[in-house]
Amino acid sequence: MTVDLAVVPVAGRGTRLLPLTKSQPKEMLPVGRKPVVQYVVEELARCGIGRLIFVTGPGKTAIENHFDFDAELVAHLRETGKEELLAELAFEGQPVEYFYTRQRRQLGLGHAVLCAQPVVDNQPFVVALGDSIIGLHAESQVVRSMIDQFERARADAVIAFEEVPREDVTHYGIAKPRRQTGDVFELDDLVEKPDVAEAPSTLAVAARYVFSPAIFECLKRTPPGKGEEIQLTDAIRLLIQQGGKVLGAVLPPGQRRFDIGNFESYFQAFVEFALADPDDGLALRRHLERLLAPDGSRPCC
Ligand code: UTP
Repeated sequence: MTVDLAVVPVAGRGTRLLPLTKSQPKEMLPVGRKPVVQYVVEELARCGIGRLIFVTGPGKTAIENHFDFDAELVAHLRETGKEELLAELAFEGQPVEYFYTRQRRQLGLGHAVLCAQPVVDNQPFVVALGDSIIGLHAESQVVRSMIDQFERARADAVIAFEEVPREDVTHYGIAKPRRQTGDVFELDDLVEKPDVAEAPSTLAVAARYVFSPAIFECLKRTPPGKGEEIQLTDAIRLLIQQGGKVLGAVLPPGQRRFDIGNFESYFQAFVEFALADPDDGLALRRHLERLLAPDGSRPCC
């Protein structure tokens, strides 16, 4: 049976987006018309994921509410003659079963994944970060092709990577490919936030993974690093060192990762999604053109 289970960690504090994230989850921030995590779930559902485990934490109940059926809201829309808005709730009926578990202390992404072990048990699974969208409109099939690679190669892990400008490698986990032929390669190592001069490539980890359950043992053996956090990258390095077959898959052109973890990339993502909006994108484009026009042509206020 193919991989149909995904773990979506959403327990992080999102401190880089304060004060926005003081009392709302960053995974619920709007990007265009939808909250970030709705794009993530829609993408996974399109890729054949039927069971989804959220790893939540304090202050994240809005995420659980968002994926519940809301019969009262449906009745209200019907009674007030707003049936056309029911289409906006179609995502509630996606063929996905939701499970929730808690990360009781925020000890890093690796620790969040480990919190899902009692539910995942001995099955292969996808990890999709709840604060990152792949491609506009969540139409990416990259997780589907990563699952296919994982099964075909009998791999222990497949990790999505994205080409980034060389000066940006200092922000990401960077691949050291063993040999690269085409868009799938075997990993020799992963280097966390290397100096520009020492980066083994410009391929940055891009928020989607497929793992065999072997990753759990590696996570358990990974010592906590800075801030007592257990890093997923360190556990993947351990998996490689103990002879695991770990593959990298480069995101196809046009399927960029939108990272909603800091203001610069959040603003860019919002504008890009809003510009692509079928109803209001054109009006926004005109507005931005006016705003950005040389002084003489700016409308007076
Ligand atoms: P980040 O690495 O951006 O960490 O999380 P963060 O704690 O949310 O944000 P900052 O650094 O304080 O601004 C990437 C993904 O992993 C989840 C987050 O919810 C996010 O979806 N995560 C992170 C957890 O579930 N638990 C953690 O302990 C850390």
